[in-house]
Amino acid sequence: MDNGSASPRSLTIGTVLLATILLYGVYGVAVNVLAEETVEVIVDDLYKEECGACHLAYLPGLLPAANWRAVMSGLDDHFGEDAWLEPETHDHILVYLQTHALALGQNSRATRFLRNLPDEPLLRITELPGFIQAHEEVQEQLGEEMLAEGFLSPCRDCHRQADRGIFDKELLNPGYGPQTWGGPPPGDSPVEND
Ligand code: HEC
Ligand code: HEC
Repeated sequence: MDNGSASPRSLTIGTVLLATILLYGVYGVAVNVLAEETVEVIVDDLYKEECGACHLAYLPGLLPAANWRAVMSGLDDHFGEDAWLEPETHDHILVYLQTHALALGQNSRATRFLRNLPDEPLLRITELPGFIQAHEEVQEQLGEEMLAEGFLSPCRDCHRQADRGIFDKELLNPGYGPQTWGGPPPGDSPVEND
């Protein structure tokens, strides 16, 4: 009877393992196929280190160059924090941000953030009219008082692959979809670290 074939038990374990591998494999492929119009990822280590110390390092392609200049010119009082940098580091980061900033002609989901920009450059991505418009549904779901200043700043609370430039609405964090909203997302801290 035993002709060398696998026992039922090891067959089961093997099947579970195979299913797990398949699931992850399919998930990985699905993410790559679904992710469209991504924002360019960070290619500068110094920027990532210095500007990722307190919150996720925002992708340069989320803000126009004029806005980055405004952010970089006020680092000694950066949203109530001192984020001052040595001049050499400051200049290096400023050049990097400006050359990779959000601009017309990029095929990214952030291009809509260029709509209706006021003349005076805003310091926050989250206060750009195009950003607010893109998050109107979130605002409706959560209500005004939940969306206090800074509430949407930790992008990864919802866009789990924000550091990879992926903002597709189909790829939001499970648990942060409109179906389950009604209270604040169960995030642990408002400021993110890497
Ligand atoms: C000492 C901590 C600290 C460092 C270092 C820091 N930041 Fe910030 N940053 C903050 C805080 C605090 C906020 C406001 C967060 C909030 O409102 O929840 C903020 C917010 C921002 C925002 C606005 C986010 C939004 O709401 O759209 C941008 C853009 C930003 N930082 C860019 C930078 C850049 C560029 C650097 C590097 C030069 C940097 N930060 C370094 C603390 C820091
Ligand atoms: C509380 C959850 C939440 C946070 C935090 C959040 N978003 Fe979103 N975002 C959403 C949802 C939900 C949508 C889709 C809204 C819709 O379909 O109406 C969206 C849409 C977008 C889109 C448009 C995608 C498309 O398909 O056109 C971009 C770009 C985006 N978010 C970027 C950001 C960035 C950058 C940050 C951080 C500065 C951020 N979001 C923070 C929930 C969030």
